[in-house]
Amino acid sequence: MNDNSAKHLNDPNLSRILISETVLRDRIAEIGAQISHDYAGREILMVGVLKGAFLFMADLAREVTVPVQFDFMAVSSYGSATKTSGVVRILKDLDIDLAGRDVLIVEDIIDSGLTLSYLLRNLKSRNPSSLTICSLLVKDTIVADELDLKYVGFNIPNEFVVGYGLDVAERYRNLPFIAIFQENQG
Ligand code: IMP
Ligand code: MG
Repeated sequence: MNDNSAKHLNDPNLSRILISETVLRDRIAEIGAQISHDYAGREILMVGVLKGAFLFMADLAREVTVPVQFDFMAVSSYGSATKTSGVVRILKDLDIDLAGRDVLIVEDIIDSGLTLSYLLRNLKSRNPSSLTICSLLVKDTIVADELDLKYVGFNIPNEFVVGYGLDVAERYRNLPFIAIFQENQG
């Protein structure tokens, strides 16, 4: 295996790798090339949604050849840990004024899409000249169908996934691949 995965695979709660390191790398290179083409002659303000998007954003940005600036937001949704209500609290707001900027929101995963719907409405009101979504993963449970998902890495089934930025209780973010998490009862 031409990657870094083996040393992470002795955890009984990781049932299997869904997206390997090499598949991630190839797809992110493709998206980066597409973004570079689409934004030719412009400058992108990448807005990362913390914490899950941090690895994806770092790797994606290195595949983009137009100028890029960065900012970050942290949000948390009210409601239970596993179901989002769509009511979102901003824990860390942006430092940069979005007015007149070409903003690319970089997300790790869209489940119901409710978190992102809220975020979009909020960011639109700040008058960016464009506002576009790039999400590494989109689950087939998405219900917020007004979302225009311009750049999507992978459509995935309704499984709980971890790794490559995604966590369960803050763990597994450092895995270089995306794995299916299943609490081992044994
Ligand atoms: P949504 O509002 O339902 O789209 O919730 C999206 C948020 O839920 C993501 O930003 C993640 O923080 C979290 N989330 C949803 N599914 C998963 C998963 O499979 N693994 C880890 N986090 C997830
Ligand atoms: Mg997230």
